Amino acid sequence: MATPYVIVTTWRFGLAASIRGNEVLAGGGSAIDAIEAAGNLTELDPEVNSVGYGGLPNADGVVELDAAIMDGPTHAAGSVAGLTGIKTPISVARKVMLYTPHTMLVGDNAKRFALQHGFADERLLTDVSNERWLEWRANQSAADVAHFDTGPREGLTELTPDNHDTIGLVALDSHGNLAAGCTTSGMAWKVPGRVGDSPIIGSGLYVDNEIGAAAGTGHGDEMMKAVVSFRTVEAMGRGLTPTEACVEALRYLMRKRPPESFNNYGAALIAVRKDGDIGAASTRSGFAAPDRLWQWAAAGEQVPAILNEGPYCTPTSLISSL
Ligand code: GLY
Repeated sequence: MATPYVIVTTWRFGLAASIRGNEVLAGGGSAIDAIEAAGNLTELDPEVNSVGYGGLPNADGVVELDAAIMDGPTHAAGSVAGLTGIKTPISVARKVMLYTPHTMLVGDNAKRFALQHGFADERLLTDVSNERWLEWRANQSAADVAHFDTGPREGLTELTPDNHDTIGLVALDSHGNLAAGCTTSGMAWKVPGRVGDSPIIGSGLYVDNEIGAAAGTGHGDEMMKAVVSFRTVEAMGRGLTPTEACVEALRYLMRKRPPESFNNYGAALIAVRKDGDIGAASTRSGFAAPDRLWQWAAAGEQVPAILNEGPYCTPTSLISSL
């Protein structure tokens, strides 16, 4: 019997991506093809300022992209980090998976690899994103904004409306196979060379074809230390529902951080189980701004293409449930 296919993506802009991925799945396409097609749609949308073309740049004004893709049936993965000049990094990540004996390529050599595989070298800044960077730059007092202060690290990067809207994607196809993806321009105005959670297998995304798939969005510097996507899949393997598994992984993340820093965290997860059940959770409702609600999208054979909200693991519920 065919499995009820479904794709789940992060954020409001994920709805268009989910609809695109669902078209692939409805045509009998594989989960990994759906993930790539859906990711590309968002990467190429100049209106989405946190992914691909039009993404906000690093402190030097350079757009550095991170992306990864993982295939359930083969448990293979490919990823790129700090990639410049290529509009569709999730497709480069897939080529890394298919055409190298490795899993991850970074920086100039990731670009060199992409160019060898026929990707075009293009300007990723739009007039809008360039203007936003110029405004930010004009408000910085340090001479070398690329490396910020030289003093000791204090606290977390401040949450601003410019950060953390990575698209994470998980899919189950009609053949019963799973895949996941992540693609992002990362934190706006980041220190050049900074890599977030998105291209890190186990943190930004994870798939076990016998259990399920998960992907994340949010404060990557913190999320990667808690390996949240792996935790989510492992929790589904212990019998938790996708939503319960996302909540458990986020609770772990929060438990490792001082409660007073909870307001600085934006972290969210999406998941799909092998049987087609889907779920999600977030640490907060307004991620970087009160009007920027955590939303996630899904579309599938038995799931209408809709936006969902929540559930939220508020600091209070997290603390009281520990
Ligand atoms: N989650 C994306 C990032 O922090 O780069």
